[in-house]
Amino acid sequence: MIETVAEIDSTNAALLARLGRGEVIDEGAWLVADRQTAGRGRAGRVWSDGYGNFMGSTVAQLRATDPLPQSLALVAGLAVHGVVQECAPGLTDCLLKWPNDLLVSGAKLAGILLERHADAVVVGIGVNLSFAPDVPDRATVSLARLGHGTARDVFAERLAAHWQAVLTRWHCGEWPALRQEWLLRAHPVGTQVSVKDPSHGTVSGAFAGIDDNGVALLRLADGSMRAIHAGDLDLVGG
Ligand code: BTN
Repeated sequence: MIETVAEIDSTNAALLARLGRGEVIDEGAWLVADRQTAGRGRAGRVWSDGYGNFMGSTVAQLRATDPLPQSLALVAGLAVHGVVQECAPGLTDCLLKWPNDLLVSGAKLAGILLERHADAVVVGIGVNLSFAPDVPDRATVSLARLGHGTARDVFAERLAAHWQAVLTRWHCGEWPALRQEWLLRAHPVGTQVSVKDPSHGTVSGAFAGIDDNGVALLRLADGSMRAIHAGDLDLVGG
């Protein structure tokens, strides 16, 4: 079920508030907004509003047998990637960047924000579909600018279906296969990356894959391996 509202502060905040009030939110339910007045990005950033873009959130209800919830970020990225391939067939250079950005030729097309409440995870997804902003910047891109204009409601229906499919697989023990699928759609192993690590400053190395929990692995210049649990990878030269 997709519930659409004209304006809201943040679809993530709204679902978290409902969970906080003890409301039961079924998996498969989505809250989609035409406009957000206080859209939230990762690391406390703002997610700018853009009419015609997809801004929506859903909930995953955690079960005792599930993998660690942070792997859901990668699973959500897979769902978005799948919808973009459907809406923009033949689009090349569309890749997932750990943990959950979708880039086209290095510019950001979509972002994902996971926020936890008890045994539920709110999964918020923003996808640039329209021509806004009026002045395009090199850091972001939209499907419309790429010549693949897609109606928001069409995107929402397809995303709900893709998300349901990958979430069911994730609950049913298929995380190892989903992890491989994610790696096939992401920056290749060996890509030079850097990341701001809160305890070690900026760390640079070669992307060496992701572990069983979805943690990024970097091979440093001295040959050692570093696990990156949080942060944004910068693709060096990308
Ligand atoms: C990021 O890349 O920083 C994550 C952006 C996530 C934005 C979406 S839009 C729908 C949902 N509601 C929010 O307030 N944020 C997420």
